[in-house]
Amino acid sequence: MTGKVAQRIRNLEMSGIRKMFDLASSNSVNLGLGEPDFQPPSHVVEALVDAVRCGHNKYAATLGIMELRDAFAKQIRGYRNGDVAAENIMVTVGASQGLMAINQTFVEGGDEVLVPNPGFVIYGPQARLSGGRAVGYSLTHENGFVPDIDELQSLITPKTKMMVMNTPGNPTGATMNREQIKAVVEIAEDKDIIIVADEVYDAITYDGGHNSFLQHSDNVIYVNSFSKTYAMTGWRLGCLATKKEYIDQLMKVHYYTVACPPTPLQKAAVVALTGPQDYVETMRKEYAKRRDYIVGRINDIEGFDCLKPGGAFYAFPKFDHDIEDVELSMRLAKEGLICTPGSAFGSMGRGHLRFAYSASLDNIARGMDILERVCKEIPLRK
Ligand SMILES: Cc1ncc(COP(=O)(O)O)c(C=O)c1O
Repeated sequence: MTGKVAQRIRNLEMSGIRKMFDLASSNSVNLGLGEPDFQPPSHVVEALVDAVRCGHNKYAATLGIMELRDAFAKQIRGYRNGDVAAENIMVTVGASQGLMAINQTFVEGGDEVLVPNPGFVIYGPQARLSGGRAVGYSLTHENGFVPDIDELQSLITPKTKMMVMNTPGNPTGATMNREQIKAVVEIAEDKDIIIVADEVYDAITYDGGHNSFLQHSDNVIYVNSFSKTYAMTGWRLGCLATKKEYIDQLMKVHYYTVACPPTPLQKAAVVALTGPQDYVETMRKEYAKRRDYIVGRINDIEGFDCLKPGGAFYAFPKFDHDIEDVELSMRLAKEGLICTPGSAFGSMGRGHLRFAYSASLDNIARGMDILERVCKEIPLRK
């Protein structure tokens, strides 16, 4: 039966994360899911209902409706000293499809794509599905989970086509500062490598504003999404920004895979971008409170070491207990706490756990009580 399935698909494994959910009971604390616990702003929900009622239910332009491309260009204009317009924008079906369109447009014949390890789980498989090879660069606790420039440089070969950067990062929550971004840009420009900048958490930073790759290079494909900023993961809407020559090519893949992104959702997304932004700030402040609380609780547990994440909504502590991260997270799931083993994000994630603090403070507190109790019973490594 599976003999008919293409080899490239048979070679792909589904992510093991779901196993944790199977072990959990209905009143478990869920700190495993990378999605906001908020609902989208109510005026944006109204705009969606209006769009459907008013008949915006037909195909629209492949690259997205002009109002949304224009509004998104305005939103990110600050990163480019004004040098970005609707012609630089492609509206996508979430950042996920935008990333896939990039891979399919640029990667071929064993091209290498540098991806973070640990990193968001779709980068590697998407490169492989497009005929490329994913090469991991390390993000380590010791290095603050930002790329090590020497290592990055050592991984570059004549086949390196793109490097994927993610700030703020999933699963680490780490953010890159201007100097770190400039250092990556320098080597990418030197070797003519495209930077894919996944900045879907740009609105969720805690210690100062967001630093964007767009600010520092022209050879960047900037990836963003409405999923996290407006808590609409299920709406499946995102945007790419890059030079027009790239958009003209990306558009071909886009047309042949999705025809266009969903029309009524785009109408509502215009309202999200152009309406009041206090919602985003309220959400960010709430995450900041949770971050301080969860990092404090984790670091109070003997054997745990958690860096304070600069953005997103993930804590990614390492632990010194004598147990593998997969086994520890299964044990926690059985005791009522769902989190994600670090190795689900790549080999360098071993010995870490990812906690998504997109849950209420009460639930986070209950979860941390479980973590504390379970880990007390496990000896530390000698
Ligand atoms: C770093 C990162 N990039 C992209 C995505 C996908 O976002 P979207 O819902 O827009 O497809 C996620 C979702 O968790 C993510 O964490």
